[in-house]
Amino acid sequence: MASIANLGYLVLGVSDFDAWEQFAVETIGMQLAEKNDNTMRLRLDNYAQRIILERHSDDDMLAAGWELDTAQELEVFVQTLRQKGVAVDAADTDLTGQRKVERLYHCTDPNGIRHEFYVGAQRANMGDAFRSKKLKGQFSTGRLGMGHFVSAAKDAQETRDFCENVLGIKISDYIRGELAPGINLDVAFFHARTGRHHSMAAVKIPFPYPKRIHHIMVEVENMDDVGLAYDRCIQAGYTINMDLGRHPNDQMFSFYVHTPSGFLLEFGAGGIVVDDNHWEVKSYTHRTYANPMETEGLRSSWRR
Ligand SMILES: [Fe+2]
Repeated sequence: MASIANLGYLVLGVSDFDAWEQFAVETIGMQLAEKNDNTMRLRLDNYAQRIILERHSDDDMLAAGWELDTAQELEVFVQTLRQKGVAVDAADTDLTGQRKVERLYHCTDPNGIRHEFYVGAQRANMGDAFRSKKLKGQFSTGRLGMGHFVSAAKDAQETRDFCENVLGIKISDYIRGELAPGINLDVAFFHARTGRHHSMAAVKIPFPYPKRIHHIMVEVENMDDVGLAYDRCIQAGYTINMDLGRHPNDQMFSFYVHTPSGFLLEFGAGGIVVDDNHWEVKSYTHRTYANPMETEGLRSSWRR
């Protein structure tokens, strides 16, 4: 069956490239691949790019790039969408060139995010291995994709229907709870075929919220890199939105920091991988908890 393998890249529309370079490269530890007047390309691994910044006044997410394994699967996937009545367009050579992929189709979701389906992502040159100025280890990418994003849905059910019926990604679990009396949080998490616990989640934020996404997430392999990045964010004066803690569902140990565009970046390690043959969909009541013992333990390990 033709299905999305993973979330391969994100396209963000941002207004301040210099602020993003300082944040993403000098603090978070991504690698700058290219920066010109209109575009900034960031690497997390051996792909030519994983996060594409386009100059834009929105300061918001513009597009998600979903990777399929073969051109044949991509064609079948697109054909199936068209049979369902989804308006899917083929990209012109300008767009495939921008995205550095062989073949690409796209459609738009109910929240205005463009979803791009592609094969043949360009890798960096052989001699040009990924280098971070900051990380001790590597970003966790590969078959699991670049990370995840959380869509701030205008209509939660409509967005969930889009995930299941258009993207064909599967529900992993839910987090539902009362943030404050009468203010309910309800998040649905979706995984693609290669099983990162979620590549996309949909939440109806229970107060006025101006952006299309709540956050994007990148994961690292080395737990110490989470603590070191946390320290660098504080030293550089970035605002931490959620302190170090572990999510009950994907087991990710992470923190959330404000990006120069206002939405958040989650930086974590230890996220679980879903095996569809042995997976039970659950519902959790808490969004996250900080475990002081664990946090202290890790703190002493990365600061040692
Ligand atoms: Fe997240």
